[in-house]
Amino acid sequence: MSAVLHTGLAELVTCTGEGPDPVERLGVLPDAALVVREGVVDWIGPVAEAPVADERVDHGGRSMIPAFVDSHSHLVFAGDRSAEFTARMAGIPYDGGGIATTMTATRAATEDELRALLAARVAELRGQGSDLVEIKTGYGLDVATETRAARLAAEVTDEVTFLGAHVVPPEYRDHRADYVELVTGPMLDAVAPYARWIDVFCEPNSPYSFTGEESREVLEAGRRAGLGLRVHGNQLGPGPGVRLAVELGAASVDHCTFLDDADVDALAGGDTIATLLPGVEFSTRSPYPDARRLLDAGVRVALATDCNPGTCYSSSMPLMIALAVREMGMHPAEALCAATATAADSLHRTDAGRIRVGDPARLTVLDAPSWEHLAYRPGVPLSRPVTGADSPWPSSQRSA
Ligand code: NIG
Ligand code: FE
Repeated sequence: MSAVLHTGLAELVTCTGEGPDPVERLGVLPDAALVVREGVVDWIGPVAEAPVADERVDHGGRSMIPAFVDSHSHLVFAGDRSAEFTARMAGIPYDGGGIATTMTATRAATEDELRALLAARVAELRGQGSDLVEIKTGYGLDVATETRAARLAAEVTDEVTFLGAHVVPPEYRDHRADYVELVTGPMLDAVAPYARWIDVFCEPNSPYSFTGEESREVLEAGRRAGLGLRVHGNQLGPGPGVRLAVELGAASVDHCTFLDDADVDALAGGDTIATLLPGVEFSTRSPYPDARRLLDAGVRVALATDCNPGTCYSSSMPLMIALAVREMGMHPAEALCAATATAADSLHRTDAGRIRVGDPARLTVLDAPSWEHLAYRPGVPLSRPVTGADSPWPSSQRSA
């Protein structure tokens, strides 16, 4: 494969900057060009010093950013819950009970149906400028369907998360300890070969999800099986999820909507990244997490979509950035870093979320003269992948 020189960039945002200022941390290069050779970033520098390449793409004054990293999604599912959303907008609160509806539809779907649904969702997400995506199981809740979900997810990403402990399925409601035993035993054994992470919906505020003690059992079993830890915590109300995640050294604790001072102190003193999912608060009409409080306390914050049929059926990272800026007190530069570099860090991935020589070319182009337009122009489809089958750039912009 040949070398491609990318020029015509109003700004190249690398997300490799340092320092206390969020804009400095973005690492914005004006008048820069970049060469991609065999899918890897080979050269970055001033356009005037650009080397000769086999092919040239002129981006016509657009900006380039690292492809978004969507570090939290639930893309393997069948069925539809739009009626649940409509009822919620009329005042019915979200409590996790609808997960069983998706479970029934997912168990009933064929493997080919699920694969096609997953492929369409991944294409939708990548078409908006995301590249690396984490995908959870959690709508099977039996050994066969959880294993199938993990296997299908592993066909499209390396970041597969086992979420057998999403909710207790209806057939176990009267003997939930047996379900925890299944999840931490035979189900974990079957799914672990396809997964890198384990997650649990730690939420004592819902009758369907898991207590702090149950969550600890699940996470410790996952760790013994060699999986990294992630937690759904403090989504519906105050609870033990955040502190448990920090205590066990989880890579990420996600949602973090209802936090007390001890939760914030724990996060500030630990290595666990707080992943905020503002599309959930948007789609469940809930109060947003206070990103400013976390950032000011020194907590590392990532953003992700949580794309799922219940609480947020959006695959748009730009929407999450816009919400984080408008509703959660994040500086636009903080939000962009949270959706790229910090999200990659939450997956322990050093090869995504930044634009650096030697890294895979995961690049997104903004149809805008600066990165600020991401939050400034909400709902406008500005971001597109640069490379691969999803790239929309017409061949007229390419020249040999
Ligand atoms: O992250 N909270 C748990 N799981 C998902 C929602 C799943 C669903 O309602 O289908 C979430 O919000
Ligand atoms: Fe989730």
